[in-house]
Order: sequence, then structure tokens, then C-alpha cells
Amino acid sequence: MSNAPYADIPRVDALDKVRGATLYAADRQPGNLVHAALAAATIAKGSIVSIDTSAANAVRGVRLILTHENIGPLGSAGFLLGGGRAFQSFQPMSSASIAYRGQPIAVVAADTLEAAIEAASLVDATYHEEAFSATIESEGTETIVQAEAPLGHPNPDIVFGDADQAYAAAEIQVDATFTSPPQHQNPIELVATVAEWAGDRLLIHEGTQNANALRFGLATQLGISAENVEIRSHHLGGGFGQKNSLQMQTVFAAIAARRVGRPVKLVVPRSQLFHDASFRPQSVHRMQLGADASGKMLAALHSVDGQTSRHDLFPGEYCQTSARLYGIPNFRGFHRMVRTDTQTPGYMRAPFEHTACLAMECAVDELAYRLDQDPVALRLANDTAHDPVEDLPLSSRHLAECLRRGADRFGWSDRRMEPMSMRAADGSYIGWGVACGAYPGNAAANVARLTITAEGVVEISAGVHEMGQGIRTVLANVVSRRLDVPLESVTALLGDTRGAYPHLTAGSWGTTASIPATIKACDAMWQRLREVAPDAPSGANPVDLIRRAGLPSLQVEVRSSAPGQDISAVDRIATGGASPTGPAYPGFVTFSYIAHFVEVRIEPNTRRIRVPRVVSVADCGRVLSPRTARSQVWGGVVWGIGAALREESEVDPRYGGFLNADIAEYMIPVNADIGTIDVDFIDEPDPQINEAGVKGLGEVVMAGVAPAIANAIFHATGRRLRSLPFRVEHLL
Ligand code: MOS
Repeated sequence: MSNAPYADIPRVDALDKVRGATLYAADRQPGNLVHAALAAATIAKGSIVSIDTSAANAVRGVRLILTHENIGPLGSAGFLLGGGRAFQSFQPMSSASIAYRGQPIAVVAADTLEAAIEAASLVDATYHEEAFSATIESEGTETIVQAEAPLGHPNPDIVFGDADQAYAAAEIQVDATFTSPPQHQNPIELVATVAEWAGDRLLIHEGTQNANALRFGLATQLGISAENVEIRSHHLGGGFGQKNSLQMQTVFAAIAARRVGRPVKLVVPRSQLFHDASFRPQSVHRMQLGADASGKMLAALHSVDGQTSRHDLFPGEYCQTSARLYGIPNFRGFHRMVRTDTQTPGYMRAPFEHTACLAMECAVDELAYRLDQDPVALRLANDTAHDPVEDLPLSSRHLAECLRRGADRFGWSDRRMEPMSMRAADGSYIGWGVACGAYPGNAAANVARLTITAEGVVEISAGVHEMGQGIRTVLANVVSRRLDVPLESVTALLGDTRGAYPHLTAGSWGTTASIPATIKACDAMWQRLREVAPDAPSGANPVDLIRRAGLPSLQVEVRSSAPGQDISAVDRIATGGASPTGPAYPGFVTFSYIAHFVEVRIEPNTRRIRVPRVVSVADCGRVLSPRTARSQVWGGVVWGIGAALREESEVDPRYGGFLNADIAEYMIPVNADIGTIDVDFIDEPDPQINEAGVKGLGEVVMAGVAPAIANAIFHATGRRLRSLPFRVEHLL
């Protein structure tokens, strides 16, 4: 079967989306609907002494108010990383305990949304307050060495060679500390649930990256059989890790719907989302980089303190990537977790790679200046085809070609090395910066079910969710080519417990998990078609064969696993678990790569930082859908600009919680902040990771953007900024 480049087809759901025909969870309007709203804790830690719902109850149209006093037994679904199904182990409203500011303390259900919101605002609690720690710098935190932490699985730091000795002996040493504040995903689609009971059966409409975790987690919380829980999550308006497990509000909607005997819709407003879902934890990175006088990197030491909650341990995997960006022979990683009184932080796009690359790629730029070497040339001289962590070959690595092609497209050869040496006609300082990103080449076991009807409908169902990233377009492109059927005939049933087991869609493994299963299903379908229509002429298409056989439809279901992975990994998906593996496989290691070239312009008086253009060249293996892939890169670069220059979840250590809990004050880039983003792909199939040759894309695209901007700011101004976000005041 050919593995030629794929056609640049339009997004298959584009027309529905621009017409508003695509239904998201909160668009569901079952008859007799009740609206729910949450009341939130106004202290940072402690417990509820008394809760008065009388004023709330008096609001016209209120049907139900749930508090910890009347909600009844409410189990925790367990923390995702501890074998559970939820984003944290702590279950609000199962007791009087308050673990963080903003935690739900009551659920109001009413005939109208207005009544629910008004009543929720009238819920009045008195508290017993306790001391708390809002940030990793606060008093009273607890610091845990990750390698020694009780995580339930071995979690050693990445160490190879003798980095301390090699660093101490190195002719050139760079030692710098980088920080990132907590940040929050803000998908356009809010976290929302519509819950509906029919007898014992519960139907949930919710945008999630993990429909089976919802099914099994909810069953645990409610004490019912998972057989009686159905999930529909056909479209997400963005996931980005925020929707990767059972959310806070889902069980409240389900319980409220059961109590009032009517469907309940619970939309978590943006202001509450900052406390009701996970977030990118605050982190501090010390990077020490040693090199010889020629620029050969000899040693790196990367120490990270990452924020976790009081009730869960969220381990950092920052050194997975920093250890592997270059062929550095000596490396020592050291992770610690710092307990703070927040909800449990979690995965937010390029959760470790974004800040790991900030630390490594800014340090590499500092090294280039210490050596007076071109930053692209220095990177090329430290390239590798070998994975130093596993001591195995890389299945593919085209980072050097990303750098060369990007430099060419950007016009890098016109760059002058000295800081402050390039000025625009209006007097602005021009800075040109470069940085690379890498992301583990994860994959996962999966199931695919393929159905073709005599009417010509081709339905693929696989363990992946459509978050807006374009997986339906990828599936259509792959299935139509493999089966030789029209693109328009291919539909996908995703994120639905009636279809193939929905698998957690995260870690950039959406394509690497679902596409091998899908290709296998296509091949199994051809096999079945030959069996049911053995006398068919060659060249007949699947629908002709089904008609010739006199069948109404034909269905196949297959299971697939990643290289070296036992097929029984599929069983974990069946009960709402996940089956990811990688980036190390038997005999090889897989990563995706990207190189970003950035121009900044800095106005000399106000020091306003602009990013008029970016060139990004990615190595994600074979590109299965060029148009949505390009869109992924645009999105990742925009987010990288946001992370570098705008985004910070602001904490007042005296009060805890997140202050700027809305997208007016949580600063993100607007259209005027974004210039041109020129994207290219190497588009070389990876020969080992899967038959299609595809590696992940959705997260590597963001890794390296922030350091490219930091390095460009240095080039423009001579100032090294190391704490995100970089703002005007840091350049005054
Ligand atoms: Mo992604 S941050 O692994 O959902």
C-alpha cells in the first residue's frame, strides 16, 4: 500500500461548524430541562461550620439545593494517576472539608439558569479557617523528592554519565534559573454536563477527552453499574488536557437530575473553571549546561520544583525531554514536587515540554553567545541520531532539517549576532531568536470498528475523541484512501460509549493510537469483502462488493497495540483506563520535533513586545491531514506566544485561589498580537512507530516557542528574561 503524501483536504466538519450545526454538550436542550449552578468556597482551606440555604431556597423556581449535608454518600472516583478516573482524588461536598478556594460547596437546580445563579449566590456558609500555602514559595508547603515519592510505580530521575563531574570540568558553564507561573487552559467550550435519567439508565452529554473514564468514574461515584451509564462526547470545543478525566461537575449534574426527576444542565462558568479543573502547575527550573570551547555540549543538570496539591502527587516529567534534545553525554535530572493548597494541577498542552524546552533552549542560546557561535550552527553541531536515555537509536529525527529549512525560510543568514544590532525604520529593536521543541512519540493500544452499508455509508469508530484538532478529517483521509471510497462517504463515531471503547485522547497519541487500529480495520474489511464476494472482479469497491453479496452491511472490529505492547493493554481501555506507551519501544525511541524562528520588535520607549512573524518547521512523521496539521501548528505557536508574553494565573498568597479567573484578566493574545506564522513539515514517514509513519503533533508545536521569543528578546535588547510571562515592565 502506498505511503505517498496525503491530500490537503478541507476539514470534514468545517461546514457544520461555521453554520453552527455542530452540537456541543451545552447545546443539548432536552425537554423539561433544569439548570444547575455551583456555589463556591470563599476560604482557602478549612471546613464548613454551618451552611444556610434558606435564602437560596426562597428564590422562585429553585427545585433542589445539594450540600454536603444532604447529598448522601458520594464516593471519590480516584485520581487519574493513582489508577482512578478523576482529575483529583479529593471529592468536594463529600464532607465539610475545604481544600482550596473556589471549591464547590453547593449545587442549586432551578427552572431557569437565572434562578440557579441567583440562588447559588445566596448560599451562605460559615467556616473554620486553617493556615494554607498558595504558591510554592509560601510558608507551610511540603516538598517531596519525586524519585522517592509513593507514586505506586517506580519513577527514577533520568541520570546518565557523570554530569556533576563533567559540568565541573567544562570550559564553558551556563547556570540559569527559569520559572513559569501557574496557567489555565481556556478552551472556548466550557466544562459542561447535561445529565438525563431514563429509569436506572444515565445519559451524559459532556465534552471530554476520556468518555470511558467518565462512564466508569461516575459509576463508582454513584454506586451503580457502568453498564447503566452512557456518554456522548462527539465534539469538544478544545480539550488541551483540561478535559482528560472525570470532571468535578459531572456527578453533581447526575445526582441533581436523579433527585428532581428531570434532565439537568450544569455549565461551569469561566470564573469557576479556574478552580474546578486542573491547570499547568507553577514550576522552577535550574539548568546547568557545560560545554567545551568548540561548543560541544558535555553535561546538563536540570532540577525542577513543580507544584502539586495537598491531596495528590502530580509528578513532573520535564527531564524526559530536556535530556534528549541534544546528544549530551552526561545528564542529571532532579524532580521535586511541592504541595500547595489548590486543586490538583495536571496536564496542559505540552505540560512538561514547554517549560523544559524554555530552560534548555534559553541555556543553549546563552551558550551560543558565550562561544560567539551562531545559535543554529551550535544546535546542528550537537545533533544526535541516538537516544542517550535508553541507549537506543531514534526511529526518526529530522530536527537538523527542521533547523536548516526554517533558517532558510526565515532568512536567518541576514541576522547579525550582536544584541541590539538590528533596528527597524521606526526605531524599534528587531530581535531574531531560534529554539527547538521535542515531544515524546507516545502510542497506545486501541480498538477500531468499521461498518460499511449497502447504501454506501462508511462509519469508522475508534478510541479517540474529536477535540477540534481534526481527527475526523484525518480518519476520513486515511479510510477513503485505504478503502478506495469517497471522502464524503466516511463518517466517524467518536467519544461515544456505543462505539469502540473511547480511549483517553491526550499525550499527542490520538493519531498514533487510532490510525494503526483504523488501518488494520480497513485491511480486515478487505479480507471480509473477499470472503463474502469471492467472485468479484478486481477493482470493485467495497460498497459494490457488499451489494454483490446481497448484504445490508458489513462490520469488522479489530484491536491494535503499539510496538512491543501486549494486545491485552486494550482491556484497560474497556474499564475506563488508559493504555499509552512510549517514547521507548523495543529497539528504538521515538520523538517528534520542531524548530521555531521568531522575530520580535520592541518599541524603544514603551518596550512593547510584538511578534510580527514566526517560521515553524515540524517533524511529526507522515502528515495525514495537511490542513488540520497546519492549523495545529498555528494554534501551538499562538499559545506559545501567549505563554511567553501574556498568560499567568495570578495568586494573592494572602488569600489563595486564582484572582484573574476570566479571559478579560487572564491575558491571552488577541488577533492584533499575531503576525504571520509560516508553517512547513518535513513529512517523512517514521519507519518504525507504525505503518502510517505518523508521530504526534498536537503538543510538540508549542514546545520551543517561548524560548525562541526569549532568545529574540535578548537579541533585540541584550536582556535575558527567564521568568514567564515576559512583560513590558521586565524590559524597562
Ligand atoms: Mo494533553 S495536555 O496530554 O491532553
